[in-house]
Amino acid sequence: MAKAAKANTKSSPSNQPSHVAIAIMAAGKGTRLKSKHPKVLHEIGGKPILAHVIAAAKKVAPAHDIFVIIGHEAERVRAAVAGTGVNFVLQEEQRGTGHALMVAREALSGYDHVIVLSGDAPLITAETIKKLSDFHGAQNAAMTLLSADLDNPYGYGRVLRKGAAERAGGVEVQAIVEEKSATAQQKKIREINSGFYAFAGPALYEHIDQLSTANPHGEYYLTDMAAVLHRARKKVVAIKTADAGEVMGSNTRAEMTMLDARLRLAKCRELLDAGVTIFFPHTCVIDSDVEVGADSVIEPFVQLLGHTKIGADCRIRSYSVIGNSVVGDRVTVRPGTIMEDSRLGAGAVVGPYSHLRPGSEIGEGAHVGNFVETKKIKLGKGSKANHLSYLGDAEIGDGVNIGAGTITCNFDGVNKHQTVIEGGVFIGSDSTLVAPVRIGRGAYVAAASCITENVPADALALGRARQSVKEGWARRKREAREDGKELTGLNAQEESVDEKQFAERKRKIRL
Ligand code: UD1
Ligand code: CA
Repeated sequence: MAKAAKANTKSSPSNQPSHVAIAIMAAGKGTRLKSKHPKVLHEIGGKPILAHVIAAAKKVAPAHDIFVIIGHEAERVRAAVAGTGVNFVLQEEQRGTGHALMVAREALSGYDHVIVLSGDAPLITAETIKKLSDFHGAQNAAMTLLSADLDNPYGYGRVLRKGAAERAGGVEVQAIVEEKSATAQQKKIREINSGFYAFAGPALYEHIDQLSTANPHGEYYLTDMAAVLHRARKKVVAIKTADAGEVMGSNTRAEMTMLDARLRLAKCRELLDAGVTIFFPHTCVIDSDVEVGADSVIEPFVQLLGHTKIGADCRIRSYSVIGNSVVGDRVTVRPGTIMEDSRLGAGAVVGPYSHLRPGSEIGEGAHVGNFVETKKIKLGKGSKANHLSYLGDAEIGDGVNIGAGTITCNFDGVNKHQTVIEGGVFIGSDSTLVAPVRIGRGAYVAAASCITENVPADALALGRARQSVKEGWARRKREAREDGKELTGLNAQEESVDEKQFAERKRKIRL
């Protein structure tokens, strides 16, 4: 029956014929990566390796029947995937894959079957796990392992089929032998153990204590269960995957980059199949959880990261990097746009070179242009900020025009303040809006204004020095220069500065 460890989740229907748990081994350190981060938290396709394995497992069993075995940096690993709702088992000392299952005995022993997955093989699919599980059930086996034929089997455990069974094309297995213990003859075997298994629960826990550490690593190998069960005259079988790539582990950085490339290309293929055009897919970095609507076009060298959602009929132009953002339908993202935790309404146009920092909500049909930086703002429907602006901590209504070079001065050195620009406002170019400040509906702010006080609706605000004009000043300056004199200063009083005063001023400047 179900275990007590499964809090806060509903139990499976009682009419289920057999009760299946999934154990994911994720306690190892990943020594070969030479990293301070645990192996299963390294990212592939934009999310932790372990998260991929859990996602596949959750398509096969409910979260409350999934047990992740953690050990090295256990709390970090737990925190990274806690949101998935799975259970955790702590393997304080990592004494091998067999030991991982020993430690999980209490959590798993109530189940009829236990499917075991390697937490470091992120390309495994739910379909393959189901095939393994179905085959295991159909064979009525004590242990079923998923195997694969590799051109270069180096480093993997090799599958030793039962001689007679092998000749007859049968499925029975005698043992698994690890690379370090394999004879020269065994090393030639190309059929490898993938690290994915299905066990009959009672058979596993009746015999697991027969594992020993008499091997080159001094560890309890789960792989030895094949020989243990075989000796106990229990049925051990193997099923080969058609796609060997699916079971590849990420033991080295080189393996990880290969898996990453494979996963991302598969992601592109999935999007292409869903009606998205991606030019030069191998230049794009699209994370696993990204969604894109049909007839959207992704140009070369685009990155779509995290939980980004792109609508239909969009065009995402080259060199744009979009993270955890939601983009509506018919949006154009022009080249070089950077966007994080933001939203674009339908039909919006942003870029080239816009920087949308977290909390930017750009309304339907709004425009954000080149060298415009936004942060925590709402830009209303059809509003435009087309050139060279900083808009932070601002609520901007519909149909607003923000002139080139406008800046919301949101920070006083200690606190951030809000700027409110109501609908229909026109902000002239090069204006500074010193927050907190409110510009009322329909008002105008004259170009180059420094606005420090609220502007009432429908008013015109001028916050700049009045222009003065000195007729003939430039001509007189030219003429003076021709006479070997220098005309200095910009205002009328200074026009009559004599040579002596001028020399004195120059001397002071040099001091
Ligand atoms: C293992 C298999 C090998 C197989 C290969 C497939 C054993 C002894 N060998 O080797 O036959 O071909 O996988 O990829 O099982 N782990 C724990 N606790 C531990 C040790 C490991 O949870 O004490 C976890 C690791 O975090 C990892 C998984 O088990 O996710 C596999 O361990 P790893 O050390 O990578 O085994 P391999 O050497 O790859
Ligand atoms: Ca491995």
